[in-house]
Amino acid sequence: MTAECIPIQPVASEARKASFPLDQWYMAGFSTDLTDKPVGRTFLNQRVVMFRTADGQVAALEDRCCHRSLPLSCGTVEAQGVRCGYHGMLYAPTGQCLEIPGQERIPAKARVRAYHMAEKNHILWIWMPREAGGAPSREAPAYPWHDDPRYTFGTGAYHYKAPWQLIHDNLLDLSHLGYVHLQTIGGDARLHMNAGMKVTQEGDTVKVVRQMPGSRPPPTYKAAWPFGETCDRWQEIEFDLSHLRIWTGAIEPGTDSIDDPQRGGFHMRGLHGITPETEETCHYFWSMSSTRHPDKPDNSAAVIQQTAFTFDEDRVVIEEQYRNMKAFGGKPEWIDIHVDAGGNRARRVVQRLMAETA
Ligand code: FES
Ligand SMILES: [Fe+2]
Repeated sequence: MTAECIPIQPVASEARKASFPLDQWYMAGFSTDLTDKPVGRTFLNQRVVMFRTADGQVAALEDRCCHRSLPLSCGTVEAQGVRCGYHGMLYAPTGQCLEIPGQERIPAKARVRAYHMAEKNHILWIWMPREAGGAPSREAPAYPWHDDPRYTFGTGAYHYKAPWQLIHDNLLDLSHLGYVHLQTIGGDARLHMNAGMKVTQEGDTVKVVRQMPGSRPPPTYKAAWPFGETCDRWQEIEFDLSHLRIWTGAIEPGTDSIDDPQRGGFHMRGLHGITPETEETCHYFWSMSSTRHPDKPDNSAAVIQQTAFTFDEDRVVIEEQYRNMKAFGGKPEWIDIHVDAGGNRARRVVQRLMAETA
């Protein structure tokens, strides 16, 4: 058996599934996660095993053998599928049992539920359907920056002891940089809190844009790019249910226009795939793609290291926030301030999508 086979969450009941929007793509991890071992993860209260077959296909099944319910993530990956680690039944990516060792006849009912997956731009996506086995109604999201030669990227993942929407709130409000991230991407707190912010929405995509001309370059920017005393910073955040894209960066004052999408300077493009595990926990898959300065061609290692440090800081805050929410009864009366506009819009999108698939 593999170490990953220990279940960490209770088995879900059907009734709990309506807590999240369904008929949606969610991020399931990165391509590099699937090697020669099955990977068991819980998404939206549903325990899933993922694996890659010999022809490179990625697959996801419910993490339960139909014989005696051992998690298939306790088994082994073979060329054609995943083999149960108890009595050796072999399952294809369709969920159909292909082999029962020592028995010729394979009953028609010897199958488990399969999920649709997609692998695109080094990202694994899983379609979480409303009806068991339901097929995707649209393509998985594209994330071209992972394949753009101007960028170098690194990845990371967290298991969070907090509900997924607290992370949406955090990512859509970058005013906290001046308080939480002073050692990396922070800077002057007052400048962050007073930066002009534009919140717009197109369909189910919420966009928050902030600009901070004349900023003092924060430590991560200085490590990656030879900025002088000041720089003109931008932050463009796009929320979609499946993931957030955060494009931040800075130019040297007097060079390009901060409004020009073709502007030069130092660019960081963050991918944030926040996928609920349960109502109280979630997966946080991230990557950071950044540009390289000719004088600092190896800057990406420092950027990734400092990004991980930054996200560690967020995690401490968010998990502590949730612990305290529970200590004070779970559903506190919150007041809103100006920084909450983006997060509140995202909450309304999630609420509506959830109602549509309840
Ligand atoms: S429990 Fe899987 S083959 Fe018996
Ligand atoms: Fe943060």
